[in-house]
Amino acid sequence: MKNNDWYRGMSFYQIWIRSFKDGNGDGIGDLYGVYEKLEYIKSLGVDGIWFSPIYPSPNADFGYDISDYKNIHPDYGDLAQFQKVLRKAHELGLKVIMDLVVNHTSDEHPWFIESRKGKDNPYSDYYIWRDKPNNWKSLFEGEAWEYDESRGQYYLHIFAKKQPDLNMDNPKVREEVKSILRFWLDMGVDGFREDVINFISKVEGLPDGLPFLPAVNGMPYYKDGPHIHEYMAEFREVCSEYDCFQLGEGPMTTVKSALQYMTGDTKSLDMMFSFDHMMADCVYTEYVHRSFSLVKLKKAFTKWQNALNGRAWNALYLENHDHPRVISRYGSEKYWRESGTMLAASYLFQQGTPFLYQGQEIGMTNIRLKHIDQYVDISSHTNFHTYHLKDSIEKRMARIHHSSRDSARTPMQWDATKNAGFSEEKPWFYVNPNYKRINVEAEEADADSILNFYRKCLALRKKSKTLLWGTYKEYFPSNEHIYMYERAYQNIRYVIICSFASHPVRVMKPKEYYGRKGKLVLCNYPKDAACDDRGYGWFRPYEARVYRFDL
Ligand code: GLC
Ligand code: CA
Repeated sequence: MKNNDWYRGMSFYQIWIRSFKDGNGDGIGDLYGVYEKLEYIKSLGVDGIWFSPIYPSPNADFGYDISDYKNIHPDYGDLAQFQKVLRKAHELGLKVIMDLVVNHTSDEHPWFIESRKGKDNPYSDYYIWRDKPNNWKSLFEGEAWEYDESRGQYYLHIFAKKQPDLNMDNPKVREEVKSILRFWLDMGVDGFREDVINFISKVEGLPDGLPFLPAVNGMPYYKDGPHIHEYMAEFREVCSEYDCFQLGEGPMTTVKSALQYMTGDTKSLDMMFSFDHMMADCVYTEYVHRSFSLVKLKKAFTKWQNALNGRAWNALYLENHDHPRVISRYGSEKYWRESGTMLAASYLFQQGTPFLYQGQEIGMTNIRLKHIDQYVDISSHTNFHTYHLKDSIEKRMARIHHSSRDSARTPMQWDATKNAGFSEEKPWFYVNPNYKRINVEAEEADADSILNFYRKCLALRKKSKTLLWGTYKEYFPSNEHIYMYERAYQNIRYVIICSFASHPVRVMKPKEYYGRKGKLVLCNYPKDAACDDRGYGWFRPYEARVYRFDL
């Protein structure tokens, strides 16, 4: 039985396997490479791994289009190799959670292959078929409906054409989901990250969406749909037979609806990834691209911190396979080390369970390819060819450089040798040309590197009850350069101060701290650079400091 909240005191590392480490020399990351690097992951101070999908997939959406839920993509190894990785991870004390993608399958999944054959086979109702489409747009390409010749009907795909939506109203489909859960739980995995899980129940009749909301016009009818909590309860029941952690991805979720998934009678998830803080510049697409606003970012952080305090638990992140490199977005490539370390401090000390995305810990940055055809992510292509068409090609490419999901998917930079030590062979995707400077080996050797700063932060967090369990409070929310937050527990307080400015900024002490002298426990400028306890005063570009107060 599920009886504890073990995940709350932990932190996780996300692996997007194709670009993590090639272990068998074909230019593609795999489970042999993961096996080699488990000690490295452990050395960061994290407690678990989340695997983005590693199942068989034609890769229309790089793994998020699954053609077999109970197997491993041959590019990445096989079930035996996965079990080897799982065993070693557990020996090292690392939990392992899998991606559960059940809003849709690949169109090459046997269920869909059968379903499209006609209206009277066992899989006919596994998907959402209509004689006439409604006006919904897909989030990834064009209309949300595709005509299928063999069946003579349209199927719904909220994402790509090759990602038909499952019909969760069909009890047989829900039984399939439960069987997938059991398959991996029986093998020993510790939980799931549940992909776009708030989309799985659609409003009956699938009414037309409002015409003035392009791209997301159907969302009001498929986000937090009418039967969502019943279906989620069924899945929760299975997971409750195991010691299983459930983390939902909730695109565009609000605090109010997230709390329904995480608390009370409808509790079906332990945590949720929200998107609000990704709206500080671009979320997913250049469709909502805007220039970065610190005030907006802080507002999003503080909203979730306050709303969940004492009721639920935050999943903290800055990057993942959908949200590109944060130094290039919220920080500064010019102040690469300073902003990379500052950004770590800006979120790792909040209340919640932190997630680090591969490469984030060494400060990888967005890649800038010359031509749109060099990009492989489907949403980048749609964005480029759909939005802002009046702008020059250069301007449109600049937006792709900023927001393409491919920017977060370049091969991991292990060392300064050929292909960044990712593979002996030509990697499947472009390596960022900055790998000679930004790589694990170089940063291991530098005490003041971004990598070692992440380690320091995670270690500090882990040994402090205040940083793990304390309450959160923000100071100076409207300050445009400084993010200052406090964590408090019993008589110990931490104040974390982060400058998001590329020029020196004067920082005031909050009134509550007048006359109190804190101890500087962490600073992202090297020690010899006069980062001592000189009150708050002037902060250098992207400086971050953590003070401890014993009251
Ligand atoms: C989630 C995934 C994203 C994927 C989409 C459709 O948002 O994180 O990578 O493209 O769902 O499965
Ligand atoms: Ca390989």
